[in-house]
Amino acid sequence: AQATVPITVQAGNPSLVISKDIQGQFAEHLGRCIYGGFWAEPGLSVPQQGRIRLDIVEALKKIHVPNLRWPGGCFADTYHWHDGVGPTAQRPKMLNLWWGNTLEDNSFGTHEFMELCQLLGTTPYLAANVGSGTVQEMSNWMEYLNSNEDTPMVLERRKNGHPEPYKVSWWGIGNESWGCGGNMTAEYYTDVYKRYATFAHDYPGTRLKKIVSGANGDDTHWTETCMKNIPLNQMWGLTLHQYTLPTGSWSGSKGKATGFGEDMYFSTLRNCLKMDAIVTKHAAIMDKYDKDKKVALLVDEWGVWTDVEPGTNPGFLYQQNTLRDALVAGTTLNIFNNHCDRVKGANLAQAVNVLQALVLTDKEKMLLTPTYHVFDLYQVHQDAKFLPLQFTSPEYSFGGEKIPALNASASKDKNGAVHISLVNLDPKNALNLETALPGVRFKTVTGRVLTSASVSDYNTFDKPNNIKLAAFTGAKKRGDKLAVTLPAKSVVVLELK
Ligand code: AHR
Repeated sequence: AQATVPITVQAGNPSLVISKDIQGQFAEHLGRCIYGGFWAEPGLSVPQQGRIRLDIVEALKKIHVPNLRWPGGCFADTYHWHDGVGPTAQRPKMLNLWWGNTLEDNSFGTHEFMELCQLLGTTPYLAANVGSGTVQEMSNWMEYLNSNEDTPMVLERRKNGHPEPYKVSWWGIGNESWGCGGNMTAEYYTDVYKRYATFAHDYPGTRLKKIVSGANGDDTHWTETCMKNIPLNQMWGLTLHQYTLPTGSWSGSKGKATGFGEDMYFSTLRNCLKMDAIVTKHAAIMDKYDKDKKVALLVDEWGVWTDVEPGTNPGFLYQQNTLRDALVAGTTLNIFNNHCDRVKGANLAQAVNVLQALVLTDKEKMLLTPTYHVFDLYQVHQDAKFLPLQFTSPEYSFGGEKIPALNASASKDKNGAVHISLVNLDPKNALNLETALPGVRFKTVTGRVLTSASVSDYNTFDKPNNIKLAAFTGAKKRGDKLAVTLPAKSVVVLELK
């Protein structure tokens, strides 16, 4: 173990809240996320409601998914919602041109998604089609979901089995409008946004949270243009998409999901840590135009993006999920928690069978990934009061480069319990921490830990519990301080009561 690292938890008068929506998820019509994931193939012998897989629902309910983004992603800007309502057999089919050219039969549409959200107890977050749709189409969707007057849209919803309005308030106006959502310039998009936003109406009981399609990675011009051109009262949120690629390159190999060496482990973490600087840059621009921090920054696509599993459809983005990915998840959620003055939401890409998934399925079988367990650990931060931390991290060096080995965040929940989430990225060395907690009175400390023998370990359908949470016994109360031995390559969440 290295020298002891002092950490101070500032518990006095917390004023900021870590929004639960930072732990949001994303479900796109992509590969086997919806079809063959949430929405069971006909004949599958698993518990179901309609065709919604209840084993997945049960798993996600345990981690309290606060919001679920749908139907895309790139798919959203090709999606025509009206094709996905009414009697299933009569719904038109379409080609999913972005993702594998599969035949989309529209059997999972608006009502099915709303039923899934209701089962999960989660807030629906819809992405409206701006790229290939019309203002009227979006406006009709809002009226269909949210109005209760006898208009044709509402009569149709009632005929389709839902008398009451669904009251959907979260609306993304386009997705990646700089890319798959229409290849627009920022200047052009902001005009388009204002036009769409004008016809995005509130209905009694539902005030819309209108969300601007934001920047790709460190494209600060996009954020600046949105903040400058769109009146603050026309936007509730602005998004940011930032993925972690092990090689750091979109062309050629992105890096393997499993079976990687320390070089790829290190570069993945180095790339993941860029999230902090990127959020800081966008937040600073937002501060210029919105000093009161009214507009939410929503990182509504993030996660590790590797090469697909060998032998799987390249358009399906199916990848395994290792302890490395769990460390990325813990680190990224710590970054978001520490930026909770501006980051009010985020969505991991994606919930099931796609990219850095929480859950993988193979016909009837289902497994929870190491990333799932991190969300399980971190749910204690949902809507808790943010407690700032002070520490200087030891370094983890590889190949002449260095990154901070330790990252952390802390909060106090409504019952007064303090939670500290700690991530040690060093694959070989434990860290000794001595935590000062001025203002925190506690009698007991407990915790849970996620780790494994190797950073490239993962869960398989034969060994689904290869990596799982365990009780953590490495934290001891010493007077009014805490002494913690944080194992190498681990995520730990401590609870002080
Ligand atoms: O999450 C996969 C894809 O990544 C989404 O469809 C798109 O928005 C992004 O480029």
